[in-house]
Amino acid sequence: MAEFSLPANSKIGKGKSWPAKTGGKNIKKFNIYRWNPDDGKTPQVDTYEIDLDECGPMVLDALIKIKNETDQTLTFRRSCREGICGSCAMNIDGTNTLACTKFIDDVKEEVNIYPLPHMSVVKDLVPDLNNAYAQLASVEPWLKSKTPPPPDKERKQTPEDRRKLDGLYECILCFSCATSCPSYWWNSDRYLGPAVLLQAYRWLIDSRDEATGERLDNLEDPFRLYRCHTIMNCSKTCPKGLNPAKAIAEIKKMMVARQG
Ligand code: SF4
Ligand code: FES
Repeated sequence: MAEFSLPANSKIGKGKSWPAKTGGKNIKKFNIYRWNPDDGKTPQVDTYEIDLDECGPMVLDALIKIKNETDQTLTFRRSCREGICGSCAMNIDGTNTLACTKFIDDVKEEVNIYPLPHMSVVKDLVPDLNNAYAQLASVEPWLKSKTPPPPDKERKQTPEDRRKLDGLYECILCFSCATSCPSYWWNSDRYLGPAVLLQAYRWLIDSRDEATGERLDNLEDPFRLYRCHTIMNCSKTCPKGLNPAKAIAEIKKMMVARQG
């Protein structure tokens, strides 16, 4: 018989509470998803109180403060702290975004923090991106050209051709978009998702690339490309203000155009 309830070990329980260490007046609560693969327990949400007068302005500042001063077991990824590396992507206040560019003050009530949705969790706020990176590698995101470059010179583009890469090259591969997409949630084993398809289009539209036909062949598939149903969550959530849905639509147009 079909089972419609969640398995008992997937339910999230209430975890520990960590009161603010100082008696400050500007206290905010951070409710953070915790799961440790090594302790055999179900996931839980721990609550940490932070005195915002003693903390930097970003959600990542709060996470770092908690790890440094309260609970060293809290696990999350981060590197650049300025919206460039993409590693601090997580779900904050119900939206996938970057912890380092999300202002704490933008969250009116308590700050709820979860890992990117519908990904396996490595630990706490760290999602397993192995499948996403394998999908990225499958679109071969590098210049493919049989024409040798001019000796000791770069491959040139017209300003107009260069402008076609705007809105694409800025992608930092945070996967906020892919993990906001219901189609990707249900089919991430076969659908490439908006992040990888934006990368695919970045090379399809590059005037220096000579593998357009091969790249389109690689995407011509009911799942890899066509599982995009134009839900648009990807473009709504992108913390860099990019439009993966448009890139996917452009790939679909290229598919139609090559059929003559
Ligand atoms: S398109 Fe935006 S949300 Fe998607 S991976 Fe790139 S930067 Fe992140
Ligand atoms: S730490 Fe690099 S994007 Fe947030």
